[in-house]
Amino acid sequence: MRWAVLEVEDLHVEFRTRDGVARVLNGVSYAVAAGETLAVLGESGSGKSVTAQAVMGILDTPPAFVTRGSVRFNGEELLTASPERRRAVRGSGVAMIFQDALSALNPVFTVGFQIEEQLRLRRGMSRKDARARAVELLDLVRIPSAAQRVREYPHQFSGGMRQRAMIAMALALDPEVLIADEPTTALDVTVQAQIMDLLREVQRERSMGLVLITHDLGVVAEVADRIAVMYAGRIVEQADAVSLFRSPGHPYTAALMRSLPRLDSSKHSALETIRGLPPSLLRIPPGCPFHPRCPRAEDVCAVDVPAFAPLGPGRGSACHFAEEVVRG
Ligand SMILES: Nc1ncnc2c1ncn2[C@@H]1O[C@H](COP(=O)(O)OP(=O)(O)OP(=O)(O)O)[C@@H](O)[C@H]1O
Ligand code: SF4
Ligand SMILES: [Mg+2]
Repeated sequence: MRWAVLEVEDLHVEFRTRDGVARVLNGVSYAVAAGETLAVLGESGSGKSVTAQAVMGILDTPPAFVTRGSVRFNGEELLTASPERRRAVRGSGVAMIFQDALSALNPVFTVGFQIEEQLRLRRGMSRKDARARAVELLDLVRIPSAAQRVREYPHQFSGGMRQRAMIAMALALDPEVLIADEPTTALDVTVQAQIMDLLREVQRERSMGLVLITHDLGVVAEVADRIAVMYAGRIVEQADAVSLFRSPGHPYTAALMRSLPRLDSSKHSALETIRGLPPSLLRIPPGCPFHPRCPRAEDVCAVDVPAFAPLGPGRGSACHFAEEVVRG
């Protein structure tokens, strides 16, 4: 693999709540190299956003506690870094586009001001230069009449434009890695395609690492180099995109592939739902956390936790029967 810009290793996060301890991340490991796209897939609640928030250092403690693991940016450990150092990396080293663009933009400031503030505070730019750069960035993300729009408030932007403004804001400090958390959900299909094209173009130009959290298999098939599949706060499978689409090496991946939409597909094959529900993170089942829902489960699955083990070059799976699953 190429040199990893961002490495997450054995990350454990728990939320200490009134109802008990929710073990939200239970050993998440992934890495992304410059210019590479890693797609993160998994059902709602599997820990995709919490992983991203832990990487960014924006989890609230309490209730969230990082109890184990490592997050490295260009080899530098961030989890034990000073708050100043973490702030310095945030935005310029690793930036994030949030799942909910509306709540991520501040309604009381103009879109331009929110971009310019970063450039003034972090890059020491003058007001005039920051304004010029903000217009350039809005232009880059194809906001029409950027010079006028820069003075408008988030509520004056359409959903698609707000999403573009978020991307402009995330790109302002030239990050080496961008984490995009469902950057196109809630947008119509045409706008989704435009936003994805835009992200890919910017990524190629800047050789930026991209961690893309999405539910859309069409997008994944088109843009991902590698895919990490999450279940109950673990990565259960990781592989290059071609292999994973061709032959999933974990029963959960196989089930997930049959349950997610492919917006690029002309075939409208009926989507299957995965039987049962994800486990409560307050009481994760013993053994393989997927066993109560797994069509291939055997007795051992309810007892022994399957380790994440290599399954061919550059891929791995956490299933006792991965070798058989991958052969179909
Ligand atoms: N502040 C919190 N207190 C308690 N539990 C939380 C808190 N924030 C998140 N969680 C729990 O952490 C788990 C993982 O949440 P996360 O947002 O990472 O899921 P996700 O994979 O991003 O799902 P989605 O696809 O719906 O965005 C969920 O079960 C959620 O309920
Ligand atoms: S370890 Fe067992 S329960 Fe878990 S995914 Fe594999 S076959 Fe299914
Ligand atoms: Mg999420």
